[in-house]
Amino acid sequence: MTSPDSQTVELDREFLDTVTVHGREYQKIFHRPPGIFWTSRRSQRLDEEQRVFQRIFDDRLIFPPIRRPQRVLDCGHGSASWAVEVAEQYPDCQVIGVDIAPHMSPDDVPENLWLQVDNLNRNFTFPANHFDLVQSRLLATGIHHSRWPTYVRDIVRVLKPGGWVQMIEIYFNVQSDNGSITDEHALRRWSTQYMRAQEDRKDLRIGTRLRSMLTSAGLTEVDTKMIPLPLSAWGNDQRTRDIGQANSGNIQKLLRSLALYPLTKRLHMSIENFDTLVEQAQEEAKDPSLKAYFPL
Ligand SMILES: C[S@@+](CC[C@H](N)C(=O)[O-])C[C@H]1O[C@@H](n2cnc3c(N)ncnc32)[C@H](O)[C@@H]1O
Repeated sequence: MTSPDSQTVELDREFLDTVTVHGREYQKIFHRPPGIFWTSRRSQRLDEEQRVFQRIFDDRLIFPPIRRPQRVLDCGHGSASWAVEVAEQYPDCQVIGVDIAPHMSPDDVPENLWLQVDNLNRNFTFPANHFDLVQSRLLATGIHHSRWPTYVRDIVRVLKPGGWVQMIEIYFNVQSDNGSITDEHALRRWSTQYMRAQEDRKDLRIGTRLRSMLTSAGLTEVDTKMIPLPLSAWGNDQRTRDIGQANSGNIQKLLRSLALYPLTKRLHMSIENFDTLVEQAQEEAKDPSLKAYFPL
């Protein structure tokens, strides 16, 4: 990785190789460990996800008690919506985003934002004691399961003394605490197969392990919270219902983009069965009597 002060270097060819699967373009990384990442020129889905997060988080971008951050790192910046908003809200702060996908970045970014292409499965080369805040949001499908302990240690190493880490992960195992989702529902079948297709390379339960990893890496004040991400409009209160309602229309897109490669290529599901599964899941998400959510 390079710092914003260093010169721009030509993009390594390894980040440009792609493969197309059922009409969707994936990025091939033949590194150690090898991986396949979905990529696109600009991800509308990730922009939509940022809007969902902003509603769930009541428009808060930064949770730790940081008043005037000077340096912020966003690991796996995606469409860079969060990094852009942080750079705009703190114009004196130097914001750096790192992502493996070279085509995700918006064309116009604030002058205090630098977007870099690199693989977070490799050790960080940022200096120690450098950032006031490091965010890592939705990286469970990108970080290799054996890399997590050193990834968290790398994040902690580059923090200034007194710096903070903000980590957010979705546990893609659809939950229903009132029993309305059964093993027969498409939403649950999608989850079960998606988790199975990823289990030998990714740790999709990482959200539940982050507290102990952060503590083991030397952090002292660690606070964790589980928030339900409603997939349909089941909420008792208007706010949760509204979020579920907004999400329910996009479920097919989300489940399709996450699972197309893992289910059709790793579990050898036919594309017809895959499409039927996500269409059925979409129908279920329209039913507010089904209490379905991903824990966040
Ligand atoms: C689900 S998106 C989340 C984007 C953003 N953090 C957000 O919350 O909106 C995951 C992002 O991490 C990137 N990513 C996945 N694996 C990565 C890796 N090994 N190194 C760097 N970026 C990675 C992907 O390209 C993608 O942009």
